Amino acid sequence: MVTGITVSNLTKGFGSTTVVDGLDLEVEQGEILVLLGPSGCGKTTTLRCLAGLETPSEGSIRFDGTPVFDDGTRVNVPINKRNIGMVFQSYALWPHMTVRQNIAYPLKVRRMKKAIAEGWVERAADMVHCGNLLDRYPAQLSGGQQQRIALARGLVSQPSVVLLDEPLSNLDAKLRDQVRTEIRELHQQLRFTAVLVTHDQEEALALGDRVAIMKDGRIEQLDTPEALFLAPATEYVAGFVGMSNRLEWTRSDGTWAGPAGLRVPVPVLGVDGDRAVSLIRPDDLTLHPAKPGAADDALLLDATLVTAEYGGRHVDVTLTLGDASRLHARTGTGASEAWIRTLQPGAPVAVSVPHRSLHSYRG
Ligand SMILES: Nc1ncnc2c1ncn2[C@@H]1O[C@H](COP(=O)(O)OP(=O)(O)O)[C@@H](O)[C@H]1O
Ligand SMILES: [Mg+2]
Repeated sequence: MVTGITVSNLTKGFGSTTVVDGLDLEVEQGEILVLLGPSGCGKTTTLRCLAGLETPSEGSIRFDGTPVFDDGTRVNVPINKRNIGMVFQSYALWPHMTVRQNIAYPLKVRRMKKAIAEGWVERAADMVHCGNLLDRYPAQLSGGQQQRIALARGLVSQPSVVLLDEPLSNLDAKLRDQVRTEIRELHQQLRFTAVLVTHDQEEALALGDRVAIMKDGRIEQLDTPEALFLAPATEYVAGFVGMSNRLEWTRSDGTWAGPAGLRVPVPVLGVDGDRAVSLIRPDDLTLHPAKPGAADDALLLDATLVTAEYGGRHVDVTLTLGDASRLHARTGTGASEAWIRTLQPGAPVAVSVPHRSLHSYRG
């Protein structure tokens, strides 16, 4: 694959705070690369540096091999010469312009009169199913329509790079799914190189050809969604792909000792050192009405029910372990699991976890 974007040692600070900290990143031509991380980890700042809306303190950015920013050679290509499309979290449509004028705006600033005459604006509006809204003003549109128009505006100039900053965050759940699918479809048709920022793991896994997990202005792991989901490289990444249970272990007397008197043989965790943590997905916990017999390939825990929340196809169950630490389980709603919802808070529940579901790291 040809490299679409190469970012080397990108650094950006505000005052004495470093927000992007020596970030390295390669985005392949034609892929959607997702930056996933918590609020404040530097995602938007990274995107704004790519766009040319922020001047980095250090480092370089190349698009298809050509520098658009390089602190060594003092290259800094202005935003309107970078051939990028941007879609912001807050739509950022011009309220005094019609939909047609909003979508046409990137063509105007690039002086692409011919494209306007040839119907690129109408085509972009049709792509997002808003061809009938061209004469309206943003205030006359729903949130979903506004975000679709913002998408059309980001794509209208047929940019080689599209930057999307939390494009779904302002939409309600149903619309979010629709627009997410539309972004995927548009990408399949148009094959632009995209960097998409989100704090939502589900969105990241669904949209990213590859996903970079960000922490404190750096990339913690960059991988395919499958690799991140199945084999997170660090505890931080595991937490980010939904492993919300965390067990702490200390090594003593040749075994790992965990919470509530739990002990496992040393090889089970596959970790060196004296301290370890294991992360576990809620749906990897199995609940039992009566304690099953001990197995040598699973943990067995005595827990107490706190809440069981019905979710249609699943039930989210919160439990406490003896030492008051919490466990989160997700079970099905089939007949064999119906007993869970009949329990009162405080009822004892046995929990088993196969050893292979433990993702363990040095503590
Ligand atoms: N223009 C600015 N001036 C000062 N601090 C800023 C500015 N922009 C962002 N920051 C700070 O940089 C950090 C990272 O911000 P941002 O890149 O927006 O994070 P994210 O998009 O991951 O939530 C935050 O602590 C934020 O307050
Ligand atoms: Mg942000």
